[in-house]
Amino acid sequence: MSDAATVLFTEEAIHRRVHELGALITRDYRGKSPVLVSVLKGGVVFLADLFREIDLLVRVDFMSISAYGADSEASGGVVRILKDLDQDIGTEDVIVVEDIIDTGLTLSYLLDSLRARQPASLEVCTLLDKSVRRIAPLSIRYRGFDCPDKFVVGYGLDHAERFRNLPAILAVEDQAALAERPDVLLPFLGGRDRETEG
Ligand code: IMP
Ligand code: MG
Repeated sequence: MSDAATVLFTEEAIHRRVHELGALITRDYRGKSPVLVSVLKGGVVFLADLFREIDLLVRVDFMSISAYGADSEASGGVVRILKDLDQDIGTEDVIVVEDIIDTGLTLSYLLDSLRARQPASLEVCTLLDKSVRRIAPLSIRYRGFDCPDKFVVGYGLDHAERFRNLPAILAVEDQAALAERPDVLLPFLGGRDRETEG
């Protein structure tokens, strides 16, 4: 369809994997009511699908952060918390739900901040793990897919705030070209239902 990007994970593959992750969490947290913590904005698409696959009395809460440097490597992962959690997580079972972990610097900083509030437990669930890029060692309890060292968009992930609503996850071949011609990804918009409607 386009040389600008190629499909890495289809909508169907994502859906299947999210269903499996939800089942794992349901099994592991049986009898508990975990709090799912999502980091705005990238993590919300995954969160919205994942928590409907978890058959427990879960709660959700959100954080919004802003990096100090150009990227997490420049800032060492230190972020400013723009919006903190609404609820106290002391004594709660917390699962941080992330779209992607790249260097791991941002998440490791966030986990330190959450750990200091003394939750009963603290685990990480990420849809994508760009493990070859890891700088900060992290223990990840739930992982959707290992992600190649490519820039990816879709299913919550953005390039210059666009493409979060693509149903699949695409690998971007040329970020500069995409910045100039974002409309080349228009053919990738539209979910399964709409494709079969007409
Ligand atoms: P880290 O601190 O290097 O792990 O950076 C994590 C953040 O960078 C993620 O939460 C994303 O917001 C962003 N990020 C990293 N890789 C990608 C990508 O391939 N596409 C879109 N955003 C990305
Ligand atoms: Mg993120």
